[in-house]
Amino acid sequence: MPNDVSDRRRPDPARPRQSVPSPPQQGVPAPPRQTAQARPGQAGRRPFPRSFPWSFPWPWRDRGGRFSPFKALVLLGTLLPAAWILALWATDGLGSRPLTEAIHRTGLWAVRFLLLALLVSPLRRLADTTRVLLVRRMLGVAAMAYALAHLGLYVADENFRLLHVASEIVRRFYLTIGFVALLGLALLGATSTDGWTKRLGRNWKRLQRLVYPIGVLALLHFFLQSKADVSEATFAAGLFLALMLWRLLPARWQGSGLALALLAPVATLATAGVEYAWYALATRIPAQRVLWANLDLEFGPRPAVWVGIVVLGVAAALGARRQVLAAAAQPPIHGT
Ligand code: HEM
Repeated sequence: MPNDVSDRRRPDPARPRQSVPSPPQQGVPAPPRQTAQARPGQAGRRPFPRSFPWSFPWPWRDRGGRFSPFKALVLLGTLLPAAWILALWATDGLGSRPLTEAIHRTGLWAVRFLLLALLVSPLRRLADTTRVLLVRRMLGVAAMAYALAHLGLYVADENFRLLHVASEIVRRFYLTIGFVALLGLALLGATSTDGWTKRLGRNWKRLQRLVYPIGVLALLHFFLQSKADVSEATFAAGLFLALMLWRLLPARWQGSGLALALLAPVATLATAGVEYAWYALATRIPAQRVLWANLDLEFGPRPAVWVGIVVLGVAAALGARRQVLAAAAQPPIHGT
């Protein structure tokens, strides 16, 4: 399977090879010009012609222009939630207020894809593979697309009264925050093309770091609209915290499964702290009781505990993968 690094060295099949014509020699008739497309005996290995649609960087192609089953699978994964929402809509499966339900679902998927995009760097280090880098842009664009659909559905829910929507966004704090997060996502999405990457050079990486404050704003928007029960928002915030804590690790520990496992309880405590702060500052619900409830598993683990379980699970899965790869790399022992 090709990856980012090796792809850069390989020629791009989407680009026809340029033949350098040699000067005609005296007395020798010039051979008929053979272009890369028309070389005899090479019909099966012809590079793509430059014209659309062959030259277009479709999302299922890798940087070398070849079909990538991994990218195609992830692309399918990004489209499935939208297809599911549409299918439920068509079969009256979204309840009595389908628009509201669709707004909630698209918002949730925007946050999920944002978190998945942030997971790419840790996975790359921990699983020691560059293949995941192939889908980072796709995941970020998916987050942006779901957030745009989310806004579109909100506008539809408000009967396309654009002035009213604009005034609501200005008046309601949680909508203002969501709007700023959406603007940020749109900016990152628009500048994610190869052309912008080249044009912005080093600044492109700096610009991409906006994803962290965008994540914070999106999660705050999630909390603010959640009313009494903030379990889902707390869980998403906990995963975001875990991803940020991993980034704070010294570089030499970032590839260590043990460091990740040790990060699990820290992420749990941090998530419980965020939940406590939310209840203490934004509600009249006794925050201390919520905090102690984390120790009570009678009604199942609370979001902070789930965050620890997820981080530990990822550490265990990566550890098992390493064992399998190490065993497969051992030379077979032949009997004498
Ligand atoms: C102009 C931008 C936005 C508008 C107008 C907007 C509007 C809304 C509305 C009306 C709700 C439902 C509130 C309710 O039912 O009381 C909502 C929920 C939500 N929004 Fe947004 N939003 C925006 C941007 C975003 C962005 C950028 C994200 C994430 C990246 C996001 C994620 C969410 C989430 C996760 C929920 C909660 C879903 C749930 O509880 O199931 N929103 N938003």
